[in-house]
Amino acid sequence: MKPADAPKDGAGMAAETERMIERDGAKEPESAASGGETRKEMRVVLLTGFGGLNKLRVAKKAMPEPQEGEVKIRVKACGLNFLDLMVRQGNIDNPPKTPLVPGFECSGIVEAMGENTQGFEIGDRVMAFVNYSAWAEVVCTPLDFVYKIPDDMTFIEAAAFSMNFVAAYMMLFEVAALREGMSVLVHSAGGGVGQAVAQLCSTVSNVTVFGTASPFKHEAIKDSVTHLFDRNIDYVPEVKKISPEGVDIVLDCLCGENTGKGLGLLKPLGTYILYGSSNMVTGETKSFFSFAKSWWQVEKVNPIKLYEENKVMAGFSLLNLLFKQGGCKPVRSAVEKLFSLYNQKKIKPLVDSLWALEEVKEAMQRIHDRGNIGKLILDVEKPPTPLMANDSTETSEAGEDEEEHEGDSDNKERMPFIQ
Ligand SMILES: NC(=O)c1ccc[n+]([C@@H]2O[C@H](COP(=O)([O-])OP(=O)(O)OC[C@H]3O[C@@H](n4cnc5c(N)ncnc54)[C@H](OP(=O)(O)O)[C@@H]3O)[C@@H](O)[C@H]2O)c1
Repeated sequence: MKPADAPKDGAGMAAETERMIERDGAKEPESAASGGETRKEMRVVLLTGFGGLNKLRVAKKAMPEPQEGEVKIRVKACGLNFLDLMVRQGNIDNPPKTPLVPGFECSGIVEAMGENTQGFEIGDRVMAFVNYSAWAEVVCTPLDFVYKIPDDMTFIEAAAFSMNFVAAYMMLFEVAALREGMSVLVHSAGGGVGQAVAQLCSTVSNVTVFGTASPFKHEAIKDSVTHLFDRNIDYVPEVKKISPEGVDIVLDCLCGENTGKGLGLLKPLGTYILYGSSNMVTGETKSFFSFAKSWWQVEKVNPIKLYEENKVMAGFSLLNLLFKQGGCKPVRSAVEKLFSLYNQKKIKPLVDSLWALEEVKEAMQRIHDRGNIGKLILDVEKPPTPLMANDSTETSEAGEDEEEHEGDSDNKERMPFIQ
C-alpha cells in the first residue's frame, strides 16, 4: 500500500474536525436546490435530536463534494458501533449539535478527489474513518483517514474492520505490549471489539483469553476465548480460581465497578485499559442515574498505589486519537500491520448481520438488546426487508417535526439477513 500524504499536526486536525462537524453534522440538511442549480441528493441516516430510536430516520441531503485534501467515497457499507448508540442518546462528552448524520466508519469506492490527494485514484476500493456522517450514500473525508483495502477484502468486511481491529490492535500491542504467554481479560467478548481482541490474541503464541459475554453467545464464540464467563456473574473469583496470580492485561469497556475489579486482577507489571463505558447505557434514552452510578463506582486511583503495586493504568480512545490529537500516523501504521495479518488469513472480521439504512432502528435495538455476535453493518445498497407490522422507518424529508415518544422502541418484525 502506498503511503498517503503526511498527517497534519494536532492543531490543524482539530480545526479540520470542527469544520467537518460544522459542514456535515451541525447544519440543517440542505435542500436539493441551491442558487438556482439543482444539486444531487443522497440518502442519509439522520439523527434529529438526542434520545430514543424515534430520533432516527432516513432523509435526503445534498451530496457533498470533496474539498482540498479530501476523498469522495461512494459508500457501500458502514459500521454500526456501540458508540453510535451512545451518540444517539447524547451519552458522550461534548456531543455535537443535532441534526447530524451519525457513523464513524465506512467502506466504498473513490468517486472523486479534491486537490492534493496524491496516492488515491478514482475507482480505488477503500475504508475510511469519518468524524460523523458515515451513514450516507456518499462521504467526503480527508485522505489521512482513508485506507486502500486488500483485494480479497469485501466492503462488508472492511466496514467491520476499521474501528474494531484498529482499537483492539493498538490497545493490545501498543498500549499493553502483548507478548507470548500473557493473559488478557476482555468484556463483551462476543461483540465487535471483543472478537477482534480474541482473534489478535490468537496471533501470539500461548496467550490465555478470559472473556465475559451473555450466555447465549458462548457456544458461538467458545473457540476464540480460552475461558468464558457469564456476564451476569462475578468474574473475579472465577478468574482467580484458574489463575490465582491474576492476568497481565485487562481491557475494560464497561467502566463503573469493573475498574476496581480489573485493577485488582492485575499481575505485577500488568496493564489495565479503560476504553468504553457501556454500563452507562441502560434504557432507550440517557439515564443520569446510570451515569452517576457508573462515575461513583469508578475506583479513584492513587498513583502512589500504582507505584507500590507495579501496575499500569491506561485509557484509549481511537476517535479522539484520530480526530482531536492528530494521531493519523500511528493509526495508519496499525492498519498496515492489520492488513498484513488479514492477507495471511490470521484475522477476519466476524459480521453479525446486515441492515438497510431504513432498518437502522432495528439494528440499533439489536445491539442494545445484547443480541449481536460480531459486528452490525449498514449495507447501503440493501433494500429494506418488508415490514410485517407498522413501518415507522420510511424515508422522510430531513429535519421534519416529529412527536416525542420516549421509550418507544420500534417493532422488531423485520427479519435481518444474518451471515
Ligand atoms: N475507545 C475506543 O477507541 C473504542 C473503539 C471501539 C469500541 N469501543 C467501546 O468498546 C465497547 C464495545 O464496542 P462494540 O462497538 O464492539 O460493541 P459490541 O461489543 O458489539 O456491543 C454490544 C455488546 O456489548 C455488551 N454490553 C455491555 N454493556 C451493555 C449495555 N449496557 N447494553 C447493551 N449491551 C451491552 C453486550 O454483550 P454481552 O451481553 O455479551 O456482554 C452487547 O452485545 C463499547 O463500550 C465501545 O464504546 C471503544
